[in-house]
Amino acid sequence: MINIRTAEEIEIIRECNLLVSKTLGLLKKHIKPGVKTVELDKIAEEFIRDNNAEPGFLGYQGYPKTLCTSVNNQVVHGIPSDYVLAEGDIVSIDCGVKKNGYYGDTAYSFAVGAIGTDKERLLRITRESLFEGIKVALPGNRTGDIGFAVQQYCENAGYSVVRELVGHGLGKNLHEAPEVPNYGKRGKGHKLAEGMVICIEPMINMGRKEVIQEKDGWTIRTRDKMPSAHFELAIAIQKGAPDILSTFKYIEEE
Ligand code: MF3
Ligand code: CO
Ligand code: CO
Repeated sequence: MINIRTAEEIEIIRECNLLVSKTLGLLKKHIKPGVKTVELDKIAEEFIRDNNAEPGFLGYQGYPKTLCTSVNNQVVHGIPSDYVLAEGDIVSIDCGVKKNGYYGDTAYSFAVGAIGTDKERLLRITRESLFEGIKVALPGNRTGDIGFAVQQYCENAGYSVVRELVGHGLGKNLHEAPEVPNYGKRGKGHKLAEGMVICIEPMINMGRKEVIQEKDGWTIRTRDKMPSAHFELAIAIQKGAPDILSTFKYIEEE
């Protein structure tokens, strides 16, 4: 069953996603060579609790931390640890919160210092592909239209799309129907309608699409150990258009 949210509910979900967006903006200031990913996790958890919210991932199916911090060949669900970020790394930071009974969920892939043109292009294309997907998140379109747009954009750039993990509905649960794949065929999949809230989150590999799960039971990495990037925004379908509930402005301004 796909939940249809009222305008009031969507405003609560927006508030949740703005808090996640601000958390990522705060983390941006701390992302530099020498910082441990677990230190970022602590900063995020404290900020979320200071804002009268709870971490949305902590305890989710037993997940142990507030953030997912996925470095270089890690795609998603990297667990914050004593790993020290190094110049040239890329790190996807995915963050969720729960506030007033609803969830926020947003992710951004950051450069650690200077990363070189290949990784810069991977980040840029992946970020742009997310907005290609958002553009076609229109009432009457289908999830396959979103997947098709993301897949075309990334494959035309020479990259590959992870299949095993997908975007999703968002609301009173972190993951709700429908699934929102980052690949697909136009006109296929679930129909999009007014009041739906979804997360679109392309996971794009520089090399081949295959991924494996590491022994920690969480971390997903590329099988060929080439880099991967991940960006995520929550959107509502409102008044005939996608209304972006999260924002990268706190990360990207100044
Ligand atoms: N990365 C997932 C998403 O954006 C959520 C992570 S759940 C966790 O939908 F338990 F791994 F944290
Ligand atoms: Co998500
Ligand atoms: Co997420």
